[in-house]
Amino acid sequence: MQTHIFTAKQIKKAAALIQQGELVAFPTETVYGLGVNACDGEAAKKIFIAKGRPSDNPLIVHIADKKDLVKIAYIPPSKKNLIETLIKKFWPGPLTIILRKKSSIPLVVSGGLNTVAIRMPDHPIAQTLIASAGVPIAAPSANLSGKPSGTCFEHVFDDFNGKIAGIIKSKKCAIGLESTVVDLTTKKPVLLRPGGLSIELLKKVLPDLQVHAHNTSSKVKSPGMKYAHYAPDAKIILFEQSAHQKISTYATRFKQEKKKVKILRTGTIKNISKNVFSIFRQCDKDGIDYILISSVPEKGIGVALMNRIRKAAYQIVQ
Ligand code: TXA
Ligand code: MG
Repeated sequence: MQTHIFTAKQIKKAAALIQQGELVAFPTETVYGLGVNACDGEAAKKIFIAKGRPSDNPLIVHIADKKDLVKIAYIPPSKKNLIETLIKKFWPGPLTIILRKKSSIPLVVSGGLNTVAIRMPDHPIAQTLIASAGVPIAAPSANLSGKPSGTCFEHVFDDFNGKIAGIIKSKKCAIGLESTVVDLTTKKPVLLRPGGLSIELLKKVLPDLQVHAHNTSSKVKSPGMKYAHYAPDAKIILFEQSAHQKISTYATRFKQEKKKVKILRTGTIKNISKNVFSIFRQCDKDGIDYILISSVPEKGIGVALMNRIRKAAYQIVQ
């Protein structure tokens, strides 16, 4: 299949492909999404095939207008005010909410669940694409299943050229990590995935937000969390504490063994978050054997960053 590369001026052409049931990758403020008409179950099956994604891992439905939420999901009267406050404060933006789904969203998209994940992305290209297509767009992160999410055009091209109908070319995604996912179908809201919107900000609207230990949780609520994730081929070693000395000891030993080592440079947490998936992918291109990373403080986006690194880690050194 020929993959059309579109510029930001050619969004209408990309939207026409979405209407025809084809897959188009597009930028958002978090990561690139691999988009399909969310109301077309047959078309949505192509997403799972292209990514190699298990069919029980549901997709996020993206909208461009807050008013479209009610076409997709039920708003329980008892939570109407809360949901209004949430979307007023955080949409468009890196917050995904889970509600009971309406029949407009096929079960293929929700991975067989009676709930649906919804988000309004804060990116002009994503918004114009959805509005031009005239349908909500279901989109997982644009990467082969298990691999680091695509955060720039080149990543998406590497994974999907020849396999999807189109890619909209744009700058690197601003945040670099995926959205924060919150389940609103339970009595108390539950954080399913830390992400671009910090827990601190979210708790200002959802003071009773339930935050569990995501890495060891045996009971899987968000199906995506049970699969290996974000991992490059290079082995990631995460150093949780007093990292500096230990990292140089490990690096020296690996180099003696003729292994290629990359030490992830520290910088601002925002900057590491934006670049971490690019670095992982670049390490694979460079044939790196080990990536050594020291932990960052778990506040703000640092929570999401540590979550992704732990999931990708081959070994964690305490
Ligand atoms: O920032 C993002 O969220 C990006 C951009 C493209 O919007 N999308 C993204 O999608 O990261 P994906 O498919 O890679 O991750 C979606 C996560 C998965 O962990 C999935 O299991 C969970 O959301 N999810 C989706 N629908 C759900 C549902 N109904 N119940 C529980 N978890 C759900
Ligand atoms: Mg993903």
